[in-house]
Amino acid sequence: MYRLISFVIGYLFGGIQSAILYGKLKGINITEQGSGNPGTTNAIRVMGKKAGAIVLIADVFKAVVAICLARMLFQNEPSILVGLYSGIGAIIGHNYPVFFKFKGGKGIATTAGTLIAVDYRLFLISAAIFLICFGITRIVSLSSLLLSAAVPILLILFYCGEQGNVGIEAMLLGFVITALAFYRHKANIRRLIDGTEAKLTSKK
Ligand code: G3P
Repeated sequence: MYRLISFVIGYLFGGIQSAILYGKLKGINITEQGSGNPGTTNAIRVMGKKAGAIVLIADVFKAVVAICLARMLFQNEPSILVGLYSGIGAIIGHNYPVFFKFKGGKGIATTAGTLIAVDYRLFLISAAIFLICFGITRIVSLSSLLLSAAVPILLILFYCGEQGNVGIEAMLLGFVITALAFYRHKANIRRLIDGTEAKLTSKK
C-alpha cells in the first residue's frame, strides 16, 4: 500500500506545472512557443534565464517535497523505494498532469529532484554526466537522455546489496525512470538521429 500512496502523493505534486503557471503570469502560453514543452529548457528559450531558473527550482522542489512527505508517512518502509515510487509519481504527474488536461513536460528537472531526495550521490553523478554532455554539445535533450539512462545503472551500483528484493525493485524503478524520459523525448530522439536537434539558446 505504501507504494501506491507514495506514488499518488508524488503524482499530485508533480502535476503543478511551474512553466505554464509562470508563463501565464507573464502573459505567455509556453505550450504554444518554442518547442511547446512546459519545462526548464523551453522556459529559457522563450522567457529567458531567470524564468528558466525559477521553473527549474520549482520542478525540482516539487519532487523533493513529495518524497519528504511520503517518507514521513512511511518511516518503516525501505526509504529508497518510498522515494522512488513517490519520485516516479512526481515525474508522471509532471508529464501527464491531471490539472492540465494531461499535457505536461518531459520530466527531467523532476527526475533531478527525485535523485536529490532519493540519494544525493545519484544526483551528483548524473548531474555531472548531464553537465559534461551539455558542455560539449549544448544540446539539452541529449544531456537529459544520458542523465536518465544513468539512473538504473547507478541504482544497481549503489543498491544491489540491499536486503531482500529491495535492490532489484529499485533497479527496475530506475529503468521506469529511463523509459519515461526516452518516451517523452521521442521527437527529440528523431531529431538527434537526423542531426537537426537545436542547441540551446536563451532569449535573454
Ligand atoms: O527536459 C527537456 C529537454 O530535455 C528538452 O526540451 O524543449 O528542447 O524539447 P526541449
